[in-house]
Amino acid sequence: PTASDLARAERLIGEVKDYPAPGILFRDIMPLLADGPALRTTVDALIEPFLGKFDVIAGLEARGFLLASAAAYASGVGLFPIRKAGKLPRPAASVGYELEYGVAEVEAHNDVPQGSRVLLIDDVLATGGTLIAARQLLRELGYEVAGIAVLFEIDGLGGRSALEDPHLHTVFRS
Ligand code: PRP
Repeated sequence: PTASDLARAERLIGEVKDYPAPGILFRDIMPLLADGPALRTTVDALIEPFLGKFDVIAGLEARGFLLASAAAYASGVGLFPIRKAGKLPRPAASVGYELEYGVAEVEAHNDVPQGSRVLLIDDVLATGGTLIAARQLLRELGYEVAGIAVLFEIDGLGGRSALEDPHLHTVFRS
């Protein structure tokens, strides 16, 4: 993707004050997703540093699913959805975490082979709690986390330093 394509895509990310709780500035990626060229540019930029280095793509419910499934299709690998608690039909591995606004749990089945190299994708990095839990879940399931790719990194909430991951790639940041 070119710098101007990326700049155009970035301008489509909205900001909503005091959502979902007072004091939180919500990053709204829906207008970006709704734009064909911006969606393609963004998905290409997410996976670019990791091409050839992963066997499957994991995405986090719910908005992470949207980017991860497009990225999996674009790179010709399978999709590994990581769900919020209580939604999976078979016994699942689970890791709990604290969110910027609440507590939650991520869960997944072990539907890809042990040792698979997984690229983990989400839409926003804030405190890092969600991705830390997801990374731990993948490791507990016996997978290698080949990289973490995030559309938008919010500076000042400590996500990058909490994650402490040499393979973290973020496309946009504030
Ligand atoms: C949002 C976002 C990330 C997470 C980032 O998810 O999609 O997954 O918060 O925050 P953190 O870095 O502090 O963990 P949310 O729980 O709002 O879920 P959604 O995608 O279903 O809206």
